[in-house]
Amino acid sequence: MAEFTICVVVILFSIILTWLFGVSRKRQPRANEPPLVNGWIPFLGVALSYGRNPLAFLRSTQKKHGDIFTCKIAGKYITFITDPFSYSAVFRQGRNLDFQKFALGFASKVFGHADFSDPAYSGSYDGIHSIFRQTLQGPALEQLTTSMMDNTQIIMQRNTLPGWMKEGLQKFTNRIMFEAGYMTLFGKDERVLAEEDSVEKRPLMQKIIEDFLVFDKAFPEMAAGVPIHFCLRAFRAREALAEMLHHKHLRRNHCLSALIERRIDAFDRISHVIDELGKARTHLSMLWASQANTLPSAFWSLYYMLRSPGALNAAQREVDRVLRESDHNPVIPGRPLILSKEQLDSMSVLGSIIEEALRLSSASIMIRVVNHDFTLALDSGLTRDIRKGDYIAMYPQMIHMDPEIYENPTEFRFDRYLDENGQKKTDFYKNGRRLKQFLIPFGSGTSECPGRFFAMCEIKQFLALVVWHYEMELEDVENSPLTTDSTRAGLGILPPKRDVELRYRSREHA
Ligand code: HEM
Repeated sequence: MAEFTICVVVILFSIILTWLFGVSRKRQPRANEPPLVNGWIPFLGVALSYGRNPLAFLRSTQKKHGDIFTCKIAGKYITFITDPFSYSAVFRQGRNLDFQKFALGFASKVFGHADFSDPAYSGSYDGIHSIFRQTLQGPALEQLTTSMMDNTQIIMQRNTLPGWMKEGLQKFTNRIMFEAGYMTLFGKDERVLAEEDSVEKRPLMQKIIEDFLVFDKAFPEMAAGVPIHFCLRAFRAREALAEMLHHKHLRRNHCLSALIERRIDAFDRISHVIDELGKARTHLSMLWASQANTLPSAFWSLYYMLRSPGALNAAQREVDRVLRESDHNPVIPGRPLILSKEQLDSMSVLGSIIEEALRLSSASIMIRVVNHDFTLALDSGLTRDIRKGDYIAMYPQMIHMDPEIYENPTEFRFDRYLDENGQKKTDFYKNGRRLKQFLIPFGSGTSECPGRFFAMCEIKQFLALVVWHYEMELEDVENSPLTTDSTRAGLGILPPKRDVELRYRSREHA
């Protein structure tokens, strides 16, 4: 409560200051610029209407002003492109638009590491950035997938008791996915491994998860510009997590991923410009990127699958078939299951369940900073002048919830992404034209999430393992469906507003 009051005071204080210093003077639109939606509140502009419900706001503004318009939001001018056919026109503007400047500037405030968009780091940071693709995709993905499969099973077995067990579905998902993902990337900490084999007696891992969730929960405030020092609990959690990610600790962990090993080496090579705490905080940003969207995505995938008998049946049949028909990785009772990357790729039902869950819960925004004045040509042929210093944004939820592209868009249909042969469906249409971009939970263009293939694999592994090992049911399945917590709109996958009780017990396999 105290943190909330401080946030409100800070926001009000900055509005008054900005007003006093006259920054809020109306800007004069220039000829051929997109229509300007200023709002009536000084400085904030339309921030409140946008913040209340971005999708509804953008839809109604699109109706009034068309496919391109500029909104004043908290002192910034953001030009929204709402026509999906024009997204590629934006991605082609690499020279005029910069993703890194926005993302790295925000990351440095939230995680407390150096601002790598500063020209002082440009040479060294480009090399560090390229490590993402080299270690999260292609051949490196096989190793990560194997390691994730082992770790997920270690955690699941540790907690399996005879008879029915009860746990919140979100708690269940976070507990398994966080620790498995953490061990897969950051290796196995001896102190964590030494802990007893039960949830209650694992104070260190529980503390890491709790700190992560506290830090993550403060993201909407931090994204709204509230300095982390005003979010005291989040600040303390961040510092505790960073302490654990110091190179001296990470180097002692067993089975570090290539991603983290190479990042440790790369940051050590620039020790003259970054200290040990700064390095640890960059690893925290990696931890956040790898978990913040994966946890709610895994939650929604499992939740929707359990609520839809058709989805659960189809998933069970697919998992049984892939596991039992494999000559390479036969199921041996009492031994951990093996699912190769190729087998995971062949699981199109699980793929469709996950993609449908992502469509329903994703609310990310793609933002670029405008580096130079330039003219943007939309797909319709319309051209508009864009100003240096403004932002360009796309909000893919407008595509995901478009009834012309997706019939009954608020409904979960587990086979929405399956074609008539049960393979991945990729043809979706708007205005009679096939869309290139119809599902964008991972962003697109140069900033597209480098962890997307790993994320899909780890969620498929999680679903396959719980389907194989457990009989599961939701306690209040008759109640109305859960809704998303839209205070995080713009930040990625929305979490649920509340948890729901899960009952599960081990499945007997013949
Ligand atoms: C379902 C899970 C995930 C979702 C929905 C997701 C989504 C996203 C999105 C929307 C972006 C920003 C793209 C943009 O602005 O255009 C992003 C960036 C990023 N993601 Fe993911 N992500 C997921 C999982 C992961 C995982 C598992 C990892 C790593 C293991 C990861 C690593 C990253 C990194 C490093 C970036 C920053 C890329 C850059 O700076 O260029 N993500 N992700």
